[in-house]
Amino acid sequence: KARLYSGMQPSADSLQIGNYIGALLQWRDLQESYDAFFSVVDLHALTQPNDPAELRAKTRRTAAQYIAAGIEPSKSTLYVQSHVPAHAELAWVLSTITGFGEAGRMTQFKDKSKRYGTDATNVGLFTYPVLMAADILLYQSDVVPVGDDQKQHVELTRDLAERFNARYGQTFQVPMPVIQTETARIYDLQNPTAKMSKSAESDAGVLWLLDEPAKSAKKIMRAVTDSEGVVRYDREAKPGVSNLLVIYAALTGRQIPSIEDEYAGRGYGDFKKGLAEVVVNEFGPVRERALALLDDPAELDRALAVNAEKASAVAERTLGDVYDRIGLLRRR
Ligand code: TYM
Repeated sequence: KARLYSGMQPSADSLQIGNYIGALLQWRDLQESYDAFFSVVDLHALTQPNDPAELRAKTRRTAAQYIAAGIEPSKSTLYVQSHVPAHAELAWVLSTITGFGEAGRMTQFKDKSKRYGTDATNVGLFTYPVLMAADILLYQSDVVPVGDDQKQHVELTRDLAERFNARYGQTFQVPMPVIQTETARIYDLQNPTAKMSKSAESDAGVLWLLDEPAKSAKKIMRAVTDSEGVVRYDREAKPGVSNLLVIYAALTGRQIPSIEDEYAGRGYGDFKKGLAEVVVNEFGPVRERALALLDDPAELDRALAVNAEKASAVAERTLGDVYDRIGLLRRR
């Protein structure tokens, strides 16, 4: 089986529907045909200000939502990044073959450092993509499914793998990004030209997986649309309605034209009510499962520990190989 790697930051109490549709639904399907590794990247989350107790809780909650959404810890290696020390160790090595200018060209870093200003920007944000490269390369990953916002980071990962291999001999598998299609990208309900994000300024446009279903239904009824009154997909002219159609299609497995037909001649109110029902039906059980897992975290913690062992075994092999090749004296 080919190897697959992906991860998510534990940066909020709940995942949002973009993470669910854009990542988790695909991971759930892909785990059947790949040897899949899925991490909760808590070390990456340290680049944002965090309350320590909250970060711990968010890390568990993120893992619980992976499982609730159908990632099976007996099938896929689902683990917490910091449980495998090799990530931080390989990141250091890779940072020594990464150009300063090369890292500085990462658009996510440029955006964030512009937003925060130089003094509030930490060095971790700068080296963030190098840690992500370490995540991927430690497991000799063949494919990395991510949203297009992460594509540049996977390209850097490929460059670093090729550079290391050229300098020190074949060590890393060079991974391929698998970029989600346009129909897996979810936008903010109140601002449908901006991607839905865990760190959105306003809560009104974000659908949280762990929210009370009634609350999500209300947000859908209030979602921004347009004055045409026709349920029709047109990303340019009708970003709000198109986004709702994409969510509807992704959660039901239906094609957009069939949904357009169903709502032909009916208003947005009906359409939104229909979508609210779909979302409530989909999120309700996921939420219940996640809350049940969090109710007795001992079992969850045990699953994470077992998988961290499995991940460590693979990661340690790669890291040992790297240390030998670059000339570190091994302890006897
Ligand atoms: P993160 O935590 O920002 O997002 C996790 C995944 O969710 C996707 N996503 C979306 N998809 C559709 N619509 C949206 N509105 C939406 N918002 C987020 C993201 O594209 C991503 O696939 N750096 C990574 C985490 C990471 C990682 C890795 C990923 C660390 N190491 C190794 C892959 C491999 C990140 O911040 O994802």
